Amino acid sequence: MMWKERYRIGVDLIDDQHRELFKRLSNFIRVVQNGEPWDEKLDEAKDTLGFMQEYVVYHFEDEERYQREIGYPDYEEHRKIHAGFKAEVDEYVRLMEEEGFSEETMQELAARFMTWLIMHVGRADQRIGEYARSKEG
Ligand SMILES: [Fe+2]
Repeated sequence: MMWKERYRIGVDLIDDQHRELFKRLSNFIRVVQNGEPWDEKLDEAKDTLGFMQEYVVYHFEDEERYQREIGYPDYEEHRKIHAGFKAEVDEYVRLMEEEGFSEETMQELAARFMTWLIMHVGRADQRIGEYARSKEG
């Protein structure tokens, strides 16, 4: 599991979703990297990618709603970061739909997803938690 306690931002709804997102990403990576022949696992890889993509959109919406609820000052910037990442993933998928779902591109997408998620949850999302706490205090 790639989730770490230090990724927690202190808001249960968001933390639970982040944990779930890491879980789905782990599943995707496990399928992509498990050494089975690519043509035999392609359908499964596409399915896990689909689950992860669906969940990330659902999560972004909830996280953005939470930011609006607490009046998070960097909401607009954060929303753009989410939209930018979603567009990047959509572009990968669009390309693969055109050129075929190659193992290489799937690996690249998995690596990019992991890097982004760790950086984003480890930094940008932490500031949401800090702001929420500062309002409580
Ligand atoms: Fe976020």
